[in-house]
Amino acid sequence: MMVNSYTRSAAFYDLIYEFRDIPALNNALVHYLDQHAPAARSVLDVACGTGQQLEALAMYDRMGVDLSPDILAVAAQRVPEVPLLVQDMVELEVPRRFDAVICLASAISYVRTHERLERAVSRMAAHLERGGTLLIEPWFTPEQFWDGHLAVRHAADDTTQLTWMYRQERHGRLSVLPIHYLVGGPEGVEHWVETHEMGLFTDAEYTSALRAAGLEVVPDPGDLAGRNMYVAHKPLA
Ligand SMILES: C[S@@+](CC[C@H](N)C(=O)[O-])C[C@H]1O[C@@H](n2cnc3c(N)ncnc32)[C@H](O)[C@@H]1O
Repeated sequence: MMVNSYTRSAAFYDLIYEFRDIPALNNALVHYLDQHAPAARSVLDVACGTGQQLEALAMYDRMGVDLSPDILAVAAQRVPEVPLLVQDMVELEVPRRFDAVICLASAISYVRTHERLERAVSRMAAHLERGGTLLIEPWFTPEQFWDGHLAVRHAADDTTQLTWMYRQERHGRLSVLPIHYLVGGPEGVEHWVETHEMGLFTDAEYTSALRAAGLEVVPDPGDLAGRNMYVAHKPLA
């Protein structure tokens, strides 16, 4: 059973990640899809978060899934016209296929284990049309991960001051991020912790999961606005 770490923080998700240049990232995503899936007309966004990417993909027939009902409630406000379903990517089951399936911002690593990575990739592949394209943005590999790294950011809007901080740890092949949130607003100041556990998978493990799902992996597909990507196609026959 998957435990979702985006619960109480869901309402603050966009503020927490405001440091990301979403318009630039979305512009890059549209070009990346044009480059790797030029014939695509439909897109499934797996672990779609608050719908920031779905909003930018309005030229496609879109659907989004995410494990967190709280996160999807925010997405539903942003893109009310897009069908959104609560789904665990490891058990992904929606009643149609897509020309492209995307899974961005390292969300894939929440599967935690290699066995579940294979299942999630296989479920994504099962929802591709023949000739369809899968884009996955990975998390850090075991070699890239910084043990004990301390991360801290502050963000604010008209009513809220928010600081979040974590000291990340490595537990075997898991990265563990106990994220402390300190949020102040008109009602007072609150503190809570949400622990994120994300699998550290090697390049070989990502690649073998894609191949085991029957996909053809594109060698050196190029980065997406500086972010590493895996791109794979479902064979036509
Ligand atoms: C870092 S956010 C990325 C959101 C979005 N893809 C983006 O690029 O902004 C990770 C998301 O993965 C979702 N998630 C975590 N585990 C999941 C799972 N097993 N199945 C589906 N979604 C999951 C979380 O609820 C969260 O919305």
